[in-house]
Amino acid sequence: MLEIKHLSYQVEDETGGELGILNDVSLTVADNQFVVITGPNGGGKTTLAKAIMGLVRPTGGTISWNGTDITDLDITQRARLGVSYGFQQPPRFKGLKVRDLLSLASGRENLKREEACQYLTKVGLCAGDYIDREVDASLSGGEVKRIEIATILARKAGLMIFDEPEAGIDLWSFAKLTETFQAIHQRREHTLIIISHQERIINLADEIVMIGDGKIQKQGPREEIFPEILANTASGCSYLTEGAN
Ligand SMILES: Nc1ncnc2c1ncn2[C@@H]1O[C@H](COP(=O)(O)OP(=O)(O)O)[C@@H](O)[C@H]1O
Ligand SMILES: [Mg+2]
Repeated sequence: MLEIKHLSYQVEDETGGELGILNDVSLTVADNQFVVITGPNGGGKTTLAKAIMGLVRPTGGTISWNGTDITDLDITQRARLGVSYGFQQPPRFKGLKVRDLLSLASGRENLKREEACQYLTKVGLCAGDYIDREVDASLSGGEVKRIEIATILARKAGLMIFDEPEAGIDLWSFAKLTETFQAIHQRREHTLIIISHQERIINLADEIVMIGDGKIQKQGPREEIFPEILANTASGCSYLTEGAN
């Protein structure tokens, strides 16, 4: 279970005053739940995800995972406890191949080629074409994005956090991605937190959390919250998107 209590993140603004990026956010996510975080740009979603992961040190509040207070742990220590985050950009090292990256992510040096191929297939890449390629500038942004998602699948973390995984992905891969999220959720072995504006992803969630102005604006079961968001879409003031980008 993930428990976030009274989390805040304050930075200094240009005039030396305090700017609240996150303000007293409390959120509990039960094991194996699928939660979508949505809300307007600049609301604080990415900052919250980074705080859970250990990339942003909150200025107040606590975060605990499976009963352990992880607020002061670094990203590696959290990863060991099973907290994983979809980086905007996976690491690129000279000579590092897609296969090596998947091995690293899985924590198994001897990750079988077949298994590595399965992860690539799941994100819509033709495994044979990519498995031995270097993770370098010759890969397009979309390819890198899909490889990043494959590494998270390989990681099999207890808590998986994805920040707008739909960004920069083509339509077919997007369909594959939503299928993958659905399959992960059906196994009920992982807790999923996905930041998204996509109806098709929101539609898979158990719970929706809306964040705006650094606060939780609304939270509840999908069946309850989603119709409200859609009603706002109809009146023209929603930020939801229907297809892939
Ligand atoms: N370290 C920081 N210093 C100043 N402003 C920040 C910092 N981190 C985030 N912000 C600002 O906080 C707001 C929330 O950002 P973010 O969490 O990225 O929102 P979202 O992901 O919901 O679009 C934005 O206005 C962003 O510019
Ligand atoms: Mg963001």
